[in-house]
Amino acid sequence: MSLEKLLEEVRARPLPRHVALIMDGNGRWAKRKGLSRTEGHRQGALAAERLIRFVGREKLVPYITLFAFSTENWNRPREEIEFLFRLLEGFIRGKLKELAEAGVRLRLLGDPRPLPTRLRAAIEEAVAATAANDALHLTVALNFGGRWAILEGVRRALAQGASHEGLDEESFSRLLPSAELPEPDFIIRTGGHKRLSNFFLWEAAYAELYFTPILWPDFDEQAFLEALRDYQGRTRNFGRVVT
Ligand code: FPP
Repeated sequence: MSLEKLLEEVRARPLPRHVALIMDGNGRWAKRKGLSRTEGHRQGALAAERLIRFVGREKLVPYITLFAFSTENWNRPREEIEFLFRLLEGFIRGKLKELAEAGVRLRLLGDPRPLPTRLRAAIEEAVAATAANDALHLTVALNFGGRWAILEGVRRALAQGASHEGLDEESFSRLLPSAELPEPDFIIRTGGHKRLSNFFLWEAAYAELYFTPILWPDFDEQAFLEALRDYQGRTRNFGRVVT
């Protein structure tokens, strides 16, 4: 089916509000082509840029979250980690003007403290420069882990001296680092593995999950629309009985 036809079909039905993506498969994509892992990440960044541009232009989804670096990714070789951080910094600095003009609001989700100073500065600048925008809420999950996020919520509850009775699911959700975002309706993972790998855990309670063997650098507009069409075919009953 052509991209236009698919777009038309997808637009005709309810769309998710928040789509979160686990961008997996850069390394394997590169290996298959006889290229270095870093080249895989470079192509992965281009795929992310292509998707952001498409979603922004077509106004398909108001919230997009990209899992760019997990708390477990520190176990990778130092050169690869440094390359990823430079790539992200380059992306943020290089695209800030375009993002700001397109009405994109950039957020960081994760613990920024262990990140390189230059990357942190680029993020802080971009977050501040786009804080008033709301055409597309783009969140980059960086040094993020679902367990870290839950623990962070617990730490905040303890620091506030939250009472035993006052703490419920709703009040606890407001203490999570993701509190400003609606819960993800749809989580897409590329690269063939069927797991969450410590991405959104609490927030994913009612998310629809979608796993595709497509490697992240090959995940294009067509693949994204096909994922959305799959989402639209599901019945979301949030634990209730749907008749
Ligand atoms: C997974 O591939 C990918 C990552 C750990 C990094 C993802 C980061 C980017 C694509 C950078 C771009 C992000 C933005 C916001 C511009 P992998 O290395 O785990 O692949 P493999 O499983 O095939 O080894």
